[in-house]
This record gives sequence, C-alpha cells and structure tokens, in this order.
Amino acid sequence: MLGTVQNKQNTLNELNKGVTDNWWENAVIYQVYPRSFKDSNGDGEGDLQGVIQQLPYLQDLGIDAIWLSPFYKSPNKDGGYDVSDPRDVDPRFGTLADAEELIQRAHESGIKVIFDIVPNHFSSDHVWFKAALASKPSSAERARFHFADGKGENGNQPPNNWESLFNGPAWTRVIEADGKPGQWYLHLFDSSQPDLNWENAEVAKDFERTLHFWLDRGLDGFRIDVAHGLFKSDVKEDHRDPKELTRALRMDLGGMDPEVRKALLSDIPFFGQGQAHEIYRQWRTIFDSYPEKRMAVAEALLYPTSRLADYVRPDELHQVFNFDYMGAEWNASKIIKSVKSSIAELSTVGASPSWVMNNHDSPRVVSRLKSSDRARAFALLTHALPGSVYVYQGEELGMVEGIIPDEVRQDPAFIRSGGKDKGRDGARVPLPWNASAKNFGFSGGNPWLPMHQTLKEYSVDLQNTEVNSFLNLYKMSLTLRKRFLNQENSTQLIWHDAPEGIVHFSRGSEFILLANTTQLPIDIDVKASVMVLLQSQSGASLIGTIVTVPPDTTLWLRKENN
Ligand code: NOJ
Repeated sequence: MLGTVQNKQNTLNELNKGVTDNWWENAVIYQVYPRSFKDSNGDGEGDLQGVIQQLPYLQDLGIDAIWLSPFYKSPNKDGGYDVSDPRDVDPRFGTLADAEELIQRAHESGIKVIFDIVPNHFSSDHVWFKAALASKPSSAERARFHFADGKGENGNQPPNNWESLFNGPAWTRVIEADGKPGQWYLHLFDSSQPDLNWENAEVAKDFERTLHFWLDRGLDGFRIDVAHGLFKSDVKEDHRDPKELTRALRMDLGGMDPEVRKALLSDIPFFGQGQAHEIYRQWRTIFDSYPEKRMAVAEALLYPTSRLADYVRPDELHQVFNFDYMGAEWNASKIIKSVKSSIAELSTVGASPSWVMNNHDSPRVVSRLKSSDRARAFALLTHALPGSVYVYQGEELGMVEGIIPDEVRQDPAFIRSGGKDKGRDGARVPLPWNASAKNFGFSGGNPWLPMHQTLKEYSVDLQNTEVNSFLNLYKMSLTLRKRFLNQENSTQLIWHDAPEGIVHFSRGSEFILLANTTQLPIDIDVKASVMVLLQSQSGASLIGTIVTVPPDTTLWLRKENN
C-alpha cells in the first residue's frame, strides 16, 4: 500500500517537474522590437546595449522571458525581417559580443531569451541571392530560391497571380547576364525578401547551422517567422482571388467580414503545406539535444484554428501564437468562444495555449479597442488565463498607435500599396522612458520614427509614480498572477454560467475572474464571500456574495477564508 502511495507521489513529482521545466508554459514573454526600445549610442535607433540597460525595468515589470525581433545583418527594408546574415548582428544594433552579453545578462536577471528566426526568406542582399542572380536559370544557385520562367509572350507575365502580402505581385523579373529580362523569383513579402526553396537540402542545412549557432550561445528559444510558409503548392497555379486573400492576410484585419476572412485563410496555396512538419520534427531533435529546455514558438495564421495544433505536436514545436484571440472583439461571448476553442484544440496534442493582444504587425490594442478602459480590462482578463502571455513593448504603458506623417512612413506595406495600407509603423514608434528628457529618454539623436509630443503622458517615469497607471496595473497583475495562478493546481479553468456580456471563470480554489464587456454595470452572484484582489478600474462593489462589475471592467477576486 505504502509502495503504491510512494509510486503515485513519484509520478506526481515527475509531472510537476515536467511542468516547471517547461518554463514557457505559463511564462510572460515580453516582445522587444529592438529598433524602438532604447537607443544607447545616440544614432536614433534602439540597440542591444539599450536592451541590456533596461533589463532592470523588465525585471521589475515581472516578466519571465524576452523575445527580440530581428537584429541580424540586414539592409532593413522590412524592419530586419530581411536577413542577409542570420549568424551576425547588424552594426545598427551592435555586435555579436553584445548579443552574447545580452543573453548572459538576461540570464543573470532571471530572464530567458528568445530570438526571431526567419526561414521563409532571406534578404536579396544575402550572398546566396546575389550568387543566384549572377547564375544561369536551372543552376544550383537559383535552386535555393523559387525562380521560374514567366507566362505569356516572351515570358513577360509572372508565373502565377499570387500577390505579395505587402501588395503588388509576388514575383519580380530579373535581368539575365545577356542584359535581357529573364526569369522571375517569388517573394511573398517585399521584392527584397526572396522566398527560400525548402525542397532544397542546402536550405534546411543552413538553418540547422543557425539554430546551433545561437543555441550554443545559450539562447532559450526561437520565434519562427512565417512558420507555416516554408513550402508552397505548385507555383504555376493561380489563386482564385489573390486581392481578397492579401486583404485577409493583413494583421489589421483589412476591414473585412471575419467569416469571409476565415474562409479565405482556410485555403492558401503558399501557407500551411504539410511538409513543414518534417522540418520542425528535425528542429525538435536539435532543441532536445541541448541541456535545459529550449523552445520554439510558431507564427502561423491559419484557419480553422484546429490546424495550429499540428505545429505543436509533442515531437514538433512548443507553442504557436494565438492570432484568433488577438483579433477577438471586446465581446464576452466571442472571447469565451475563442478561449474555449484554443484550450480545447491545443490540449488534443498536450500543448499549452498562448495569449496575444497585439504585436509589431498589428494595431496597438488600445487603438483597436478604441478605449484604454477596455484595454486594461482585456489585459487583466488575458493575464488570468492558463498558458503563456505575450506582451508587446509599450502595451504595458497603454500606448496607442503613433502619429506619423505619411512622408516618413517606412513600412514596405505602406510603400507597396501606394499609401492605401497605412502599414505597421504606428505600432513601432519608440518607447517614452522619461517625460522631461530629449525624445522622452529614448535617444540622444534623431529617432528613426518621429516621437510626437502626445507620447509624453505614456512615459515610464510618470507611470511609475502614478498608482493607477497602466504600468502599475501590469506590474500588479503579473505579480499576482505568479502568486495565485502559476501554482501547479490552478492551471485548470472552470467556466461559470453568466449573463450576456460577462466572462466568469475560476481557477484553483481561490481565484475568480469577472469581466464586464458591456456599457452597463452588472450584478453577479459569485456564491462565495470574496475580496477584490485587483480591478482594471475602480467602481466595483460587494454586498454579501453579490458583486457589481462596472462597465468595461475586469475584476480579480479571491475567495475569503481560504
Ligand atoms: C511576420 C513578421 O512579424 C513581419 O514583421 C514581417 O514583415 C513578415 N513576417 C515577413 O518576414
């Protein structure tokens, strides 16, 4: 008998050990967009030393890990997602030694580090692409990319009608050695980002080298850019409605009906092809060959969302971004539906969910929800969910989309659409650190995007001293989350029936969440005596077991006498 109990205890210990080792499963991961985070050398662009300087800020915020958007060698036509050497640092961000120092210093501060990896494409400045341009059709150099002859007379039409996600054709024609227009190459993004051909073994080999390069330097994980894009269906085939598809693929949701959008995203010839899974199985063996747990999170936008679970099967990647949740409106039943389906779909493969409210490609959450009260309430709701939370820099300050004159916009999506698509620069405006300093403490030089005076009120120093600031709300929720929600016994979420417009769930034996997405106060009987742990704004009241939840408000409650 004792033996059985002991065995059970051993199994439990093992399970709990598994839970703690998989650090990403309930981590709060902070996305740093290095160019806009902190400039240490006065050139107007953020850099790696700037991130190192601000590690105490991140530690104080209470996050567990940072994910850095690319800082690799790059002509920077697409904010560094056009990589010309994935194993070196671009001088605008610092040196390789800075990247190594960052990993080490973050670890000393108890913070894990994730870097971006961009396998769908290289920059046209990469040596491979330069060699491809200098070589003949059908050469080994061209076989690393998607080169094809054009259609029509003299091949002057692109090989198919696919569109770049940044607008315009997904193909560009090259000039051959004889000085005449010749083959075309595929680029799902800017023409400076030629797509790699993953059918080519050299491509896979080179990326394995890159994985080892950074893992050997102690990196804890990767965020995989366009993880669902590596393989394409037949590049000779047209899409039935390429213009609508491009609109559907925009992270600002392109003003499209959500159902039409989902239908378009459920069948894309260049995303979600099955062969990528074999590559990720291979990558998994690499991650698993290192001591301490290394992880990878996939950027993949696919419908139905159940397809995302394929990327996080036990022998593949560890996590996938939840873009369905990111697109959720401030509407209780839609939020509940999205949360329930994410948890259910991912649990079929034993993966933990992730929750994202915005990132460097999407409108900032306060602007999207058109209200800072709603964004505060949405944040408290998000921080209470089981799984990991991604926080995009400046989100904790409640920043809105930046005010940027069109003349200085830099996003290729803006440029290629002739300004029709405003692009993503609004979410990339540098952070204000200090209300009274030049450029609000971001840089001693000229910031790469203008820092409008309205940024002042979001400054870190002001928010640190204001009790009810956005920043302090984040600090409190991240602290309380660790204390009440990251316990091994509270990973489960129990839904309670609630009136229209209310989200009501509990976790563990103590914690209850109520969120009111309507414009009226609503009374809820929580059937227990409770105290308010945290509220996204003031105004809640308690009478007996009845809680009055103000409009656009989330409450964290704790059962008393526990
Ligand atoms: C997704 C990245 O998040 C985005 O910023 C980039 O433009 C595209 N992938 C292309 O790499």
